[in-house]
Amino acid sequence: MDTLVCYYSRSGHSKAYAKRLAKELNADLREIVEVQRRFLGPMGFLKAGYDSQKERKRSIHLSGLTLLDPFTKIVVVSPVWAGNVPPAVREFAFTYKIRNASLFLLINHKRSDPEGFLPKFQKIFPKADKVTVITRLKDSEEIAEQKFQTVLEQVRNA
Ligand SMILES: Cc1cc2nc3c(=O)[nH]c(=O)nc-3n(C[C@H](O)[C@H](O)[C@H](O)COP(=O)(O)O)c2cc1C
Repeated sequence: MDTLVCYYSRSGHSKAYAKRLAKELNADLREIVEVQRRFLGPMGFLKAGYDSQKERKRSIHLSGLTLLDPFTKIVVVSPVWAGNVPPAVREFAFTYKIRNASLFLLINHKRSDPEGFLPKFQKIFPKADKVTVITRLKDSEEIAEQKFQTVLEQVRNA
């Protein structure tokens, strides 16, 4: 298994994309987990957005995985929080510095302008080979599926 798909997900969209990717790519699938769990509901939402905007640090683990060395291709699936990289995904980038593997990002979000958040993802993942953005509330099902298939092709051809 040379491919790793890892994801962070609060409401399940990133998880669903990651599961599909891992299945199609026969890849190892790992969740980026915050050690201190977040509250659901409106207060949890507000705190999550605040932490993301302020780029607050959070401890994470990768569901039992410690070394990324065995992988030659890594796909990170992430939502956007408050126009920024969620703290768990930011921490993942700093903890597991990806040096040698080809890196692919699949970002999914609701509707904000990617010009606002893309530079922030690119800053913390400067070595990302390809970045794909699915704008859930603007992309039609067909467009979203095309984008998803593009990620699959990119990873297969890398
Ligand atoms: C705290 C928080 C902040 C969010 N901020 C944004 C945002 O700035 N722009 C946007 O388009 N979507 C935003 N979203 C929506 C998520 O990016 C989007 O619903 C994503 O698909 C959720 O992925 P998930 O189901 O894997 O958690 C936010 C969601 C949360 C929970």
